[in-house]
Amino acid sequence: MATAPELAAAPEIAIRPMTEHDVPAVVAIERASYQFPWSEGIFRDCLRVGYVCRVVTVGDEVIGYGVMSTGAGEAHILNLCVSSAYRCQGIGRRLLDYLLDRGAAMGMTEAFLEVRPSNTAAIRLYQSMGFEQVGVRRGYYQATVGREDAAVLKLSLRGRRSRES
Ligand SMILES: CC(C)(COP(=O)(O)OP(=O)(O)OC[C@H]1O[C@@H](n2cnc3c(N)ncnc32)[C@H](O)[C@@H]1OP(=O)(O)O)[C@@H](O)C(=O)NCCC(=O)NCCS
Repeated sequence: MATAPELAAAPEIAIRPMTEHDVPAVVAIERASYQFPWSEGIFRDCLRVGYVCRVVTVGDEVIGYGVMSTGAGEAHILNLCVSSAYRCQGIGRRLLDYLLDRGAAMGMTEAFLEVRPSNTAAIRLYQSMGFEQVGVRRGYYQATVGREDAAVLKLSLRGRRSRES
């Protein structure tokens, strides 16, 4: 009789502030994940200006990251990425949830983000978290040929629990 396949256990992850030392690992994931990746300088600028920059780790390994700006009551998710080897295990959802809680703790009442309409995985994640499309930014993204529009998504943070760290 065949044995039942073993279920892979979800990895033990931690979420902590990104530091300058994390940037090379973050950029390696960024380059492997996007056709038009952010440069190392953009991540360093995000740290310098005090955006909410977090990494997801498994042990000492950085396996994902998120960047969020806050101001005027609005949180803006600028980047959310999980290393391909760790996708589809609920890590992107946990990281986004963390960032939204953090935004609420900082007094933000709404969250916004832009996403390529072709990015089905991300759109499903955002919709399942309650984000709704509120607009389109024409020609927002670089594309292989010409430019690609961005869908603008919004979520109310009112009534969310707050995360202090
Ligand atoms: C988008 C991304 C962060 C999702 O991270 P993840 O850890 O794989 O996502 P999760 O496992 O938490 O999945 C959460 C939900 O997203 C959706 N989803 C994730 N991957 C999906 C896929 N390949 N196809 C369809 N839906 C998917 C599902 O709704 C899923 O919920 P479910 O597991 O209950 O079905 C990840 O795919 C990624 O890093 N992509 C490259 C970078 C990127 O495009 N970032 C977003 C820029 S706007």
